[in-house]
Amino acid sequence: MTEPQRTHSIAVLPGDGIGPEVTAAALAVLDAAQERFGFTTERTDVPLGADHYLSTGELLPDATVEELRGHDAILFGAIGSPTVTPGILERGIILALRRQMEQAINLRPVRLYDGVPTPIAGLTPERCDMVIVRENTEGAYVAQGSTVHAGTSAQVAVQESVNTWYAVERAVDFAFRLASVRRKKLTLCHKTNVLVEAGKLWTRAMEEVGARYPDVETDYVHVDAMCMHLPVNPERFDVVVTDNLFGDIVTDLGAVVQGGLGVAASGNLNIAGTGTSMFEPIHGSAPDIAGRGWANPAGACLSLSMMLGHLGEGEAAAAVEAAAAAVVAQLPALAGAEMGATTEELGRRIADLVRDGGAPAVEGSLMSQLAQVMAGLRDGS
Ligand code: IPM
Ligand code: MG
Repeated sequence: MTEPQRTHSIAVLPGDGIGPEVTAAALAVLDAAQERFGFTTERTDVPLGADHYLSTGELLPDATVEELRGHDAILFGAIGSPTVTPGILERGIILALRRQMEQAINLRPVRLYDGVPTPIAGLTPERCDMVIVRENTEGAYVAQGSTVHAGTSAQVAVQESVNTWYAVERAVDFAFRLASVRRKKLTLCHKTNVLVEAGKLWTRAMEEVGARYPDVETDYVHVDAMCMHLPVNPERFDVVVTDNLFGDIVTDLGAVVQGGLGVAASGNLNIAGTGTSMFEPIHGSAPDIAGRGWANPAGACLSLSMMLGHLGEGEAAAAVEAAAAAVVAQLPALAGAEMGATTEELGRRIADLVRDGGAPAVEGSLMSQLAQVMAGLRDGS
């Protein structure tokens, strides 16, 4: 008897700038993964972003949120455009989606793949394989605050950072789970010497949650010191858990260390089954290079790989990761005109490698670790 075909419903949100180009490349890779591993997807295009906003005034309509809820995953390109005041689209779409879909975790691997150039002299792939677990719904990103005496010399701006036990505990628990299936080390990255109140809550979460994971070693590093250790001693880190804003900042640093924003991937994960998870390359919409084929699709393809792991397509996830890593390793430059091939061509090369299975397997893949953690969360263990 043949097995029933697995089908996943995917909402595709290409967005602005280079978003549509890298998403098209990732979808070509998804086609190849489907052919090779025998599953199908139903894809719905969701036209959010600058053009939609300018023509309709809509950022993230409630009906779209409901539509997205009906999908198994969201594949996201990039949002942001010089035609719209900075912050409107980012806050109105990306941050709103993260909050409304309860995407509690922003999972950002910092892994230097074999053969990929890094600006850090002497750094080798064996020394650089960490995952940053960024709390994704609060901290300074709650966008609460106020201004009084606006526009005068007496102007006062208050911008609050909110830390709830609910969100911090679940982020820390997820990070412990991930560390348990990796090298069993979890580092809290914070600024407890200055942000004392938030620091106490995060530290308590590390202690109380940590009691449930006695075989995971814990460590602490201040965020400023992290900016020194991450590039120079990345081997010190396995899983790092951190606040939303610190996570935003240190993951750009991590992206550069692993070869640049063009190769950095992320997953906005709903870990409670109450909303849809969303997978996006870390790079933004890069309007200055949009439409020229200069964007590296690797970040989008590695995000696709994470999506496949999340959907339970572990073999496909591993094949896409291996193919993207192999293609990136051959490039003379990781983005721009010097990349030596267009976005579309690179998508085709990655897709071909997925189809013929020719790329060397990536050891200790985060994508299969993620599948293990998600399975544990689902069955409540
Ligand atoms: C990121 C981005 C976003 C963030 C912006 C676009 C709102 O920088 O995903 O890291 O700050 O989270
Ligand atoms: Mg960022």
